[in-house]
Amino acid sequence: MGNQPVKVLCVVGARPNFMKIAPIMRAFKQSTHDIEATLLHTGQHYDAAMKTAFFDQLHIPEPDIDLGVGSGSHTVQTAEIMLRFEPVLDELQPSAVLVLGDVNSTIACALVAVKKEIPVIHVESGLRSYDRQMPEEINRVLTDQISDLLFTTERSAEKNLSREGIATSRIHFVGNVMIDTLLYNLNRAVNSQQLISDKVPSEILAEYLSGYALVTMHRPSNVDNPTNLKGLLETLRRVSEQRPLVFPIHPRTAQRIKENGYQHLIESPRILQLPPLGYLELLGLMKDAKLVLTDSGGIQEETTALGVPCVTLRENTERPITADEGTNTVVGIDPEKIHACVDEILETGGKSGRIPEYWDGKAAERIVEVIHEWSKQRDSETS
Ligand code: UD1
Repeated sequence: MGNQPVKVLCVVGARPNFMKIAPIMRAFKQSTHDIEATLLHTGQHYDAAMKTAFFDQLHIPEPDIDLGVGSGSHTVQTAEIMLRFEPVLDELQPSAVLVLGDVNSTIACALVAVKKEIPVIHVESGLRSYDRQMPEEINRVLTDQISDLLFTTERSAEKNLSREGIATSRIHFVGNVMIDTLLYNLNRAVNSQQLISDKVPSEILAEYLSGYALVTMHRPSNVDNPTNLKGLLETLRRVSEQRPLVFPIHPRTAQRIKENGYQHLIESPRILQLPPLGYLELLGLMKDAKLVLTDSGGIQEETTALGVPCVTLRENTERPITADEGTNTVVGIDPEKIHACVDEILETGGKSGRIPEYWDGKAAERIVEVIHEWSKQRDSETS
């Protein structure tokens, strides 16, 4: 690499990648090191609500390259990303490819890079649900195996990686870039009252303002299986009798509700259905919620950082620190368990939790420092 700048090609694809890349691009830009960061979007998420809102609100630079792959089966989507990514690598010849999280774009680009002997940097590595039916779990395990530099968000991740034979010298505990974004944007969050006020019937508004539950749900195991989806929607309906709900609906979930004719299950003045929201809108709603019910990974972390009780509608979590130290309770999808957990939160206020180590808004800066040191060391080894 000599005196050439270190060229890092950063890849994003789907919604949860967008909030993670924002502080990293900012840290690269502010760094005094000779690092040149380029941004590539695979196009896995493309709707204005799923993509543009995040780029605009989080001031993420427009991608230098957009592969425009769009939706498809896992095979089609992953293969299409790989096919379109290869010529970009040939042309740009980056010093490293940086990938984030666990979406299909993460493994697709990591795999192309490693086959071309371009080092892979994985941000948010080592998280494990130990549930191989989750597509993200496959993406996590495989990406970590082929990464040169692995950045972790919690201590449990390093243990998982060591168990899989990854050298500790490659692993760096830096904290959580998702929380960098949250802390950076907290005072820009959209006012929740403003979001709700003109959308709910006036006779229920006071109840909403005295405490609503926020719901998000999009995992294939919950929404692609009609029995699970029906059970969850019925449970939500029952929860809404205790506290009114705000429910922004992911495109996958909206499609499944429609296909199965389940709309009537959640048609109620006590359930505010919304389209997928921008980051600042969701942050505003999360911050002021009495509780959050979700199957998202990121929201488990964000509620812990905000001190808001979270009920996770999954049987496991790859982010155990949110349950061990934070405000999260992993409940699964059994209706009685969900109701019992909601009752307890409404009675006691739920777990108060504490902020995990290094979730302090500086993870991206640490990442850039480590990349700089790592590239210096590689330079000295190759010269
Ligand atoms: C993907 C990620 C998941 C992440 C989620 C966040 C994988 C394996 N999964 O799941 O980890 O939590 O993103 O949103 O990568 N669609 C649109 N507009 C879009 C994008 C998708 O309408 O901009 C619809 C399409 O019908 C598509 C479906 O949503 O088929 C699913 O999209 P896809 O990217 O395959 O997976 P997600 O469920 O979004």
